[in-house]
Amino acid sequence: MPAAPAISLQEKIRRLRTERNATIVAHNYQDGEVQDIADFVGDSLGMAKFAGKTGADVIVICGVHFMAESAAILNPAKTVLIPDLEAGCSLAECATAGQIRAWKKDHPGAAVVAYVNTTADVKAESDVCCTSTNALQIVRSLPPDREILFIPDMYLGQWVRLQEPGRRIHLWNGSCHTHVRIRPEPIFELKKKHPRSELLMHPECGCLTACMNLADHILSTDGIIRHARESDKSEFIIATETGILHRLHKENPGKTFYPAAEEATCEFMKKITLEKLLWSLEDLRHRVTVPEPAASRARLALERMMTIPP
Ligand code: 13P
Repeated sequence: MPAAPAISLQEKIRRLRTERNATIVAHNYQDGEVQDIADFVGDSLGMAKFAGKTGADVIVICGVHFMAESAAILNPAKTVLIPDLEAGCSLAECATAGQIRAWKKDHPGAAVVAYVNTTADVKAESDVCCTSTNALQIVRSLPPDREILFIPDMYLGQWVRLQEPGRRIHLWNGSCHTHVRIRPEPIFELKKKHPRSELLMHPECGCLTACMNLADHILSTDGIIRHARESDKSEFIIATETGILHRLHKENPGKTFYPAAEEATCEFMKKITLEKLLWSLEDLRHRVTVPEPAASRARLALERMMTIPP
């Protein structure tokens, strides 16, 4: 008798997803094969919104740890899993709750605006969260004379400060180790070589200020994907983590994308593989929970962000 055909990894994942009533949520920086099996692929804001309204019992976050924490904070009754606990975020590691408490003491009355790339304990010390999609709108939603402590990404903070010159915005000295690998010189070269291309940059880029005059748009990962789809241009220089190229190529077969830095790959994002996703669904690991009272305080900051229209 011929042997039964082997079941693919993807098929095993699909079957277990149904059995567990699970949903798979992936970030735009994940490997292509992980994105392709996910129920939702998007930016940090999209992932949090999707996780906040899913009917599934189990939410598997294919992204980095703070993204799983956000899903757990918004869904305390659900099982939130991350396939590899080592999928951390260098930016989230840049600020601790103790440091933020001390900084607040130096600026009494200031509002703390926390980029979502922070730990739950840091969100718990914050007034409102933001993502790269809505950072400007969140800052503009605060009274114009209120001092702002913007944490932890100094490049995103600098960009917000440039848009809002009259405000007192203090920046934390944090950055993403992947986005600082994107240097201005190769971007200048690419722009010279492809003069008709549009330069799309993520605001976490370390070279944002140096390239500001050259950038056509400064956007979140979903913003970059949306713009590339809608633009009538056919060539783009993409200044962010290279995982985004999978969706850009898949959704725009007739367009050309030049990565600003081939080496801008986040090794933490890439910790998530199909095998680990399967094991995660098999053994319901690794469960991410956020203890009280931090969870409730962090939820307030996340929910405040969600009420501000994009
Ligand atoms: P986006 O919200 O734009 O996807 O960015 C998230 C992130 O972690 C970038 O490093």
